[in-house]
Amino acid sequence: MARTPTYSGMPAHIAIIMDGNGRWARARHRPRVFGHTEGVKTVRRVVEDASEIGIRCLTLYSFSTENWTRPKAEITALFNLLREYVESDLETLHRRNVRVRILGSRNGLSDDLLSLIARVEETTRQNTAFNLNIAFNYGARDELLRAAAKASAAGMDFSTLTEAEFSTFLDTAGLPDVDLVIRTSGEKRISNFLLWQAAYAEFVFTDVLWPDFDLSDLQAAISEFNLRDRRFGSLDPAEVA
Ligand code: IPE
Ligand code: IPE
Ligand code: MG
Repeated sequence: MARTPTYSGMPAHIAIIMDGNGRWARARHRPRVFGHTEGVKTVRRVVEDASEIGIRCLTLYSFSTENWTRPKAEITALFNLLREYVESDLETLHRRNVRVRILGSRNGLSDDLLSLIARVEETTRQNTAFNLNIAFNYGARDELLRAAAKASAAGMDFSTLTEAEFSTFLDTAGLPDVDLVIRTSGEKRISNFLLWQAAYAEFVFTDVLWPDFDLSDLQAAISEFNLRDRRFGSLDPAEVA
């Protein structure tokens, strides 16, 4: 019997673990970096599709603090792809009223990348149609430690600090909690992504590899989200009656 949706509508914030680029390339006997290059094309499509179907906030995991353990050539390629993506798409994103944030640590980033990040965030700061967050050099544990350091530097009293106050020191300050996490490529783990923000997210895992992910996969994930019974620790109203 089909379940009745108990929550209907668009998730306020979707976060995607874009996984499987390497396997996509290997299946085609191509180098892993070819998969990453194709993955950027998927990023362009998904940003456009998400905004067209009414999503207002999208976070994409593109380089984790653990990805530093990969071969240097792959790391360099991933850094170059971020740079190229931001440089080539900044104008279009800005024209479409998209606010871009780069979540993550600034440690280990070159001066030119730091100034590019500052430029894209500054240029799009007033934009309101869509929030695009790219988690780059991002790890949730690192983010929580940085947030604690910022809260401490701001003179916050940790014995009385509320969850809402602490949230203002996260990279996602001001954004809604994550409603839906999608992970491609069949892996079923969180890999140090948005541990705080996804505390009550619904998870959808798909076997599709990131370069193949398209609008129908996004819509399927949202449909599955809409079938979930989100209780947030409470009881079904039927149980209370
Ligand atoms: C996702 O694809 C991109 C990054 C993690 C940077 P992978 O590179 O992890 O691809 P697989 O998982 O090896 O197939
Ligand atoms: C997670 O993918 C990080 C990104 C998508 C950027 P990984 O491929 O690095 O994760 P693990 O190693 O399978 O957990
Ligand atoms: Mg992977």
